[in-house]
Order: sequence, then structure tokens, then C-alpha cells
Amino acid sequence: MQPTLSEMAVEVLTTADGRAKTALSRRHAAAWFAARESGALPEIGTATPPLRPARPDAPALLSPRDVPRRRPGTPEGRIALLHAVAHIELNAVDLHWDIIARFAHVKMPPGYYDDWVKAADEESKHFNLMCDCLEAAGSHYGALPAHAGMWRAAEDTAEDFMGRLAVVPMVLEARGLDVTPGMIEVFRRAGAVDAVTALETIYAEEVGHVAYGSKWFHFLCGRHDMDPKEVFHGLVRKYFHGALKPPFNDEKRAEAGLPLDFYWPLAEETPAKAP
Ligand SMILES: [Fe+2]
Ligand SMILES: [Fe+2]
Repeated sequence: MQPTLSEMAVEVLTTADGRAKTALSRRHAAAWFAARESGALPEIGTATPPLRPARPDAPALLSPRDVPRRRPGTPEGRIALLHAVAHIELNAVDLHWDIIARFAHVKMPPGYYDDWVKAADEESKHFNLMCDCLEAAGSHYGALPAHAGMWRAAEDTAEDFMGRLAVVPMVLEARGLDVTPGMIEVFRRAGAVDAVTALETIYAEEVGHVAYGSKWFHFLCGRHDMDPKEVFHGLVRKYFHGALKPPFNDEKRAEAGLPLDFYWPLAEETPAKAP
């Protein structure tokens, strides 16, 4: 029997090794789209995702204040930057499969699943690209410590579907749009052509992930007859513990369906206290 989409998601979430996780993720995404192209809608099913995804033994996960900072102008600094992005991408793979499995009980149109499967597939590619760059530079994912807090947003919103959409794609992934151009510049100045190409791919595809978040957030607001902007502000204040920091990439955010009045009013507010 073909596994359901939720079962595929849980299989990815419970695979620890990064390259094995992304290979499985890409295989499942290919199977999903092959079925969709033949006109089928594979069963979504239900499955219980783990509270936290499986992770490899390395990297060591440290509290953000304990992760050493390195200057981006040095080769070590650039390796640290690639390592940090690889870590974000690996978490992003799990975040997209997690939203599929965790909220599978909410009836959504087929396009919703298409979007998150595509996003998970792209994050898998992004992780592999970052690993390739690290390995070309004589390092690898796991060689440096990484942030432990990446799964926090998922745990905080494990029971709030709209909260998940508000915080993960519409705040965290949108932040990626703000900072990636500066990162691309660091590698361009260093003449690191492969890293520039990889980061440009990531930058282009992340716009889509933010857009999926905005699209399905608005869809659910419409379903429940709620004002999207008001609901967004309330959910970010409730679940997001960081600060929304300008400068924002207003143009890319607009392209991704994030209007100015969604995030500017939240900028530099005192963030919600962690419980
Ligand atoms: Fe990504
Ligand atoms: Fe993404």
C-alpha cells in the first residue's frame, strides 16, 4: 500500500541524518507530484509527528548566546555562515513536513499540500547546496555548533494552525528575505561563485515559501470570517519571542504577499516574553 502523505511526512521527521532526511524528502515529493500529474490525489491520512524531529549527533546544539560569532570577512566566518544557513534549511525541511502532518485533521484544498510538499523539496535542495559548499571549503554540516532554538516556533504553535502560518513562513522565512542579499554580497566579494549561485537559488525560492504562508493564512481568515491583519498581529504577539527588526526587504515581502501594514506596526515592539 502507498503510504499516505502524513506518513511520508513523519518518515522524514524521524530520519536523523541530514543527507538521508533530504534524500527521503525529495523522493516523497517526487512521488507526490508524480501522482498529482497523473490526476490522482494521494490520501492525506493522519499520523502523529514527533514533538521534535530526529537530529544527527552533530552539530552540537547550543543556546544562541553560546554559539561563537565569527567575522564574515574571513574564510572561517564564511564557513560559519554557510553552516548556519545549512542548519536553518534542515529545520525548514522538517517545518514544512511538520505542518502537513500536524494539521492533517484540518480539511484543506489539494493546492495547500502541493505548496508545502514543493517547499519541503526546495528546502531539501537548499540544505544539500549548503552542504556541497561546506564540503568544497573543506568543512561539513556538523563541524560547528548550531542554534538549539530553531524548533521553538514549531513547539509554540503545535496546536495553533494559523499561529504556525503566521510565525513560520510569514515571520521567520520572511526574515530570510531581509538578510539573504547581504549574505550574497559577502560571498560575491570573496569570489565564492558557487556559494553566490546557491544563495541566489535559495533567495528566489524563499519568496515562494513566504507567499504560500500568506496565501493559506488569508484563506483560513476568509474561511473563519476574520480580519487577516488583526489576526496576524495577535498571533505574532502571542507566539513570536523575537523582535521584528528593520531594515525589511519591503519589495520582496510585497512580492510574497506580505503588506507593509502586517509587519511595520510590530517592528521594534517589545517581544512577547518566553514563558
Ligand atoms: Fe530554504
Ligand atoms: Fe523556506
